[in-house]
Amino acid sequence: MRVLIVDDEVNIRELMKRFLGLEGINADAAENGFSAQRMIQEQAYDACLVDLKMPGMDGLELIQWIRSEGFRMPVIMASAHGEITDAVKALKDGAQDYVVKPFDPEELIIRIKSLVEAQNLRNIKENENRQESERAFVGESIQIRKINELIGRIATTNSTVLITGDSGTGKEVVARNIHARSGAMGPFVPINIGGVPENLLESELFGYEKGAFTGAVSRKQGMFELASGGTLFLDEVGEMPLALQVKILRVLQERCITRLGGTSTIPINARIICATNRNLEDDVREGRFREDLFYRLNVVRIQIPPLRERKEDIPVLAHFILQKLNVSMGRHFTGFTPKAMEMLKNHSFYGNVRELENILERAAIFADGDLITENELDLRGSSLRQPEKNNQSVGTPLTLAEAEKIAIEKALRRWEGNRTRASEELGISRRTLITKIQEYNIEI
Ligand SMILES: Nc1ncnc2c1ncn2[C@@H]1O[C@H](COP(=O)(O)OP(=O)(O)OP(=O)(O)O)[C@@H](O)[C@H]1O
Ligand SMILES: [Mg+2]
Repeated sequence: MRVLIVDDEVNIRELMKRFLGLEGINADAAENGFSAQRMIQEQAYDACLVDLKMPGMDGLELIQWIRSEGFRMPVIMASAHGEITDAVKALKDGAQDYVVKPFDPEELIIRIKSLVEAQNLRNIKENENRQESERAFVGESIQIRKINELIGRIATTNSTVLITGDSGTGKEVVARNIHARSGAMGPFVPINIGGVPENLLESELFGYEKGAFTGAVSRKQGMFELASGGTLFLDEVGEMPLALQVKILRVLQERCITRLGGTSTIPINARIICATNRNLEDDVREGRFREDLFYRLNVVRIQIPPLRERKEDIPVLAHFILQKLNVSMGRHFTGFTPKAMEMLKNHSFYGNVRELENILERAAIFADGDLITENELDLRGSSLRQPEKNNQSVGTPLTLAEAEKIAIEKALRRWEGNRTRASEELGISRRTLITKIQEYNIEI
C-alpha cells in the first residue's frame, strides 16, 4: 500500500510518514498541491491525505483535479478548522472522509486502511463484471451466430430459457452470457441439480426457517431468494426428482415460495435459466420428467450443436482458448502451425469445447516456441494419452471403493468426461455417477 500525504506543515508530513512507516505502509509527502499533482501522475497511490488550507492550490482544488483526471483512490480531507461547510464541500467534491486537526494518527491509519480495502473490493467487483460481459460466446458458424443473436434478443426479457446441448458445448457460458447482457443488478446464482444430494435439494432451493428440521439452527435463504433481481441457473435440470418437479412448477406458476417450516409467502422475481444435456423430450415421454414443467421451462430454447457439427468454429475457439492460456500461463503463443490446425479441424471432439480446452492446455505445457505445433497435439483418446497409472497388477489388494474409483475414472477418460455416456457404460444413473465423482474427488 502506498499513501500520499499533502500538507504544507512539515510536522504533519513527518508525523504521518513515521506512523504509516511503522505500519509497513509506504508514504510519500508533498508540500503543496502542485507537487502532489506531479507525484500522482507519476506514481499510483492507494490513498491520499489532503490538507484543506494550503498556499497556492487548496485541498478542495486538488480533490477536484484528482477526480476530474479520473483517479479513483480514496481521499481524506484534513482541516484545522472543523468547519462543517468545508467538510460538506470536500465530501461533495469527491473526498471519502474528513478529519479535524489535531487528529490521532493511529485512528486515521485505521480509517485509511478500511477505505483502501473498500476501494479494492469495488475494483475487484468491477473487474469481475467486466470479465463476465466479455465472456463472449465464441463462434463463427451460422448456428452460433444465430444463438448470439437470440441471446441479444432475449437477454433483457424475463423469459425462462432452456439450454440444451452435449457435455462441454458451452451451456453454462450461454447462461452467464444471458445474465451479463441482461443488465440485471442481482447476482447469477448457479445450482447443479445433479450434484446436490436429493435430500438437500429442496432446502437449498427454498431455504428454511429456524427449527424447520433438526439441524436448522437459524433461518437460511434459498437460492430462489438469493437470485432476487438476477438469474437462477438450474444446471442439469433433467436430474430433478419428480417430487421436486411439482414444487418447482408451482413456483414458476405462482412466482412465490415458502421457506421450509415457514408460513409466509415470499415473492420471487429471479429469471430462471435451465440447462441439460439429456433429451428432455424423451424423459417426458418416458415419465421421468413432468410434461407441464417441461413446457414451463421450454419457453425459449437454445440448442447448442456439438462442436463436430460446426467445425468452422474450431479455429476461432482454438485462438480464443490460446489467448486465455497466454494470460493464465504467462505465455506468448501467437497461433498454430497449419498442420496442427488441420489436425484440430479433423478431430471429432466428443468432449466438445471442453475437450479442445484440455488438449490445448496440455499442448501449451509442452510447446517451446510461439506456435503450437502438431508435435504437441495429442488427439488420441485421453485414455491412451495418460499412462495407465491405475493399472494395478494382479494380486495387488484393492478395496471395493478403489476398484469403483478406477472404473469410473476409466469410463470418464474413455468418454472424454462425458458423464452421460460414462454412466451408461457403468450401468449407473448419472446422478449416482456425479455423487461418486464428488465422493472420490475424481478430476475429469
Ligand atoms: N462458444 C464458446 N466460447 C467460449 N468458451 C466456450 C464456448 N463453449 C464452451 N466454452 C468453454 O468450454 C468449457 C465448457 O463449457 P461449459 O461448462 O459451459 O459446458 P456445458 O455445456 O455446461 O458442459 P456440461 O454439460 O458438461 O456441464 C468452458 O470452459 C467454457 O468456457
Ligand atoms: Mg455445465
